[in-house]
Amino acid sequence: MKSFGKILLVCGFVIAAGAGISSGGTGMDIKTQAFGRLPDGTAVEVYSLTNEKGLEARIMTYGATLVSLEVPDRMGKAGDIVLGYESLDGYIKNSPYFGSIVGRYGNRIAKGKFILDGVTYTLAANNGENHLHGGIKGFDKVVWNAEPVREEGVAAIKFSYLSRDGEEGYPGNLAVVVIYSLSNDNELKISYEARTDKATPVNLTHHSYFNLAGEGDVLGHELMIASDAYTPVDSGLIPTGEIRPVMGTPFDFTSPHAIGERIAKVEGGYDHNFVLRKGGGELSRAALAAEPKSGRTMEITTTEPGLQFYSGNFLDGTITGKGGRVYSKHAGFCLETQHFPDSPNKPGFPSTILRPGRVYKSLTVHKFSTR
Ligand code: BGC
Repeated sequence: MKSFGKILLVCGFVIAAGAGISSGGTGMDIKTQAFGRLPDGTAVEVYSLTNEKGLEARIMTYGATLVSLEVPDRMGKAGDIVLGYESLDGYIKNSPYFGSIVGRYGNRIAKGKFILDGVTYTLAANNGENHLHGGIKGFDKVVWNAEPVREEGVAAIKFSYLSRDGEEGYPGNLAVVVIYSLSNDNELKISYEARTDKATPVNLTHHSYFNLAGEGDVLGHELMIASDAYTPVDSGLIPTGEIRPVMGTPFDFTSPHAIGERIAKVEGGYDHNFVLRKGGGELSRAALAAEPKSGRTMEITTTEPGLQFYSGNFLDGTITGKGGRVYSKHAGFCLETQHFPDSPNKPGFPSTILRPGRVYKSLTVHKFSTR
């Protein structure tokens, strides 16, 4: 084994600063490398998690962002199945939340306002008059602390961030921990924990744009969603409050359908929250996506009650990403496990309010396979 720069040994893993280090025995590896600097000079690192099946997840400290995910196809050929940029610069200049952790509140809060315990809070409006994905500088645009996790059988990185009282208009100091872990079962798990010192809405999610073919658009991907109902939206993509059955509509993914099959019947494309059958709490299946040519499949299980299915409608060919690929409409799709959009203003939706003394916990597992 060669050594380059600073090396740390954690529970059988070799944590290496720089390239070219491999661990003995477990087939799992964690490496870290510099990924660039923010305009204010803050250093950003990227961690690479690998398993013995040929999966590699690279996650950087800016936005706790998954920058690449190499997964073998049915022939064993690895391909990067998430959209993004090759360097930090692109993420800083113009990223529609590629691969990032989204918070303090994933998706929209109408007019950036909500009333909690009799107090009206006003959040940053960054999507027309609405608040989207945590505001102007959400959790996707901050540098997280990172440390490798000592856990048997997985390669994992723990990211932490303290969101200060008043940040983007939210009440309370919110301490957030997000752990990405990769196992030899080809599971990429994302677990979340948060604690606050004042009551606040919290709704954390992960915003990868997947393309299981690693090229082209995603209209031919087959998708199943374990949901019998969805939350219709108004013209500003704010839920109306109604919970409407999917049966007989283009939102019925209870059996697999190609994403493109009925998309023309959905104004603007899919950008909707699906109410998951299990209702949250216990880890259960939310979705299964399959790409026929590569054979790659991705199953998502979650403890969350909702899943935002976004079919990359706002990608318009103005972004050139990794490998010089132009990201046109529907170049990737997001499956964001979360509570429902605008819950702080919708008493009929499951509550997203975290109170002092309570712990916010959430877990989502992406399992990769081929057929
Ligand atoms: C939202 C979209 C939004 C996209 C990127 C998704 O989670 O539902 O409306 O355009 O994120 O910002």
